[in-house]
Amino acid sequence: MKLVGIVGTNSDRSTNRQLLQFIQSHFSQQAEIEICEIKDLPAFNEPEDKTAPAGIQALSDKITQADGVIISTPEYDHAIPAALKSVIEWLSYTTRPLIDKPVMIVGASHGSLGSSRAQAHLRQILDAPELKARIMPSAEFLLGRSLQAFDEEGQLAYPDKVKELEECFDEFLLFVEITNQLVKDHRFKTEQNRQFSWETANGGNHE
Ligand SMILES: Cc1cc2nc3c(=O)[nH]c(=O)nc-3n(C[C@H](O)[C@H](O)[C@H](O)COP(=O)(O)O)c2cc1C
Repeated sequence: MKLVGIVGTNSDRSTNRQLLQFIQSHFSQQAEIEICEIKDLPAFNEPEDKTAPAGIQALSDKITQADGVIISTPEYDHAIPAALKSVIEWLSYTTRPLIDKPVMIVGASHGSLGSSRAQAHLRQILDAPELKARIMPSAEFLLGRSLQAFDEEGQLAYPDKVKELEECFDEFLLFVEITNQLVKDHRFKTEQNRQFSWETANGGNHE
């Protein structure tokens, strides 16, 4: 199982990065997880030729080649950070690698709610037809008080949270398997969604 883990922030000091690093090492026997950074990617600006910048293309290729994606999002003003939204806009406007891709959303926040509002926001965004990610339903992993959550070796210090994460990850592995089988057999409007353009749009399910 090959997964991509996207650090949903451009901050150098991020507990969401620590969370993904913990996931990468804790589940190394079950999946190979490549952690991808967004901090050097340019802000989205609607390019005339619809070409993705090199960094976006590289991220997009990794997503395409992966069996699934984990996104770890901080919460800024009850939503996802602008840097993460910008990357998603690039992917939506150019290469669309998230169409039919199994995605697990996780997140960490300094306060007690563990990025719950940002996660709900991200779920709504990824559900847009141009993105059409297959987001694992009825599951969320919220890590509150994240500044105190990791020890010096990067281990998650809350045993109940480790157990919860293990259950969530097991469920995700099954979800990836089932979803990839389902979309391989059916390809629900995949090409139509990939070819869609806002410039020539006339309704459909893209409004
Ligand atoms: C501009 C800004 C807005 C923030 N808004 C929230 C918020 O709405 N809710 C929250 O729990 N933490 C908020 N925070 C605090 C933390 O940055 C946030 O908990 C974040 O999820 C921590 O993730 P990180 O350690 O990966 O940077 C905010 C921080 C900044 C800089």
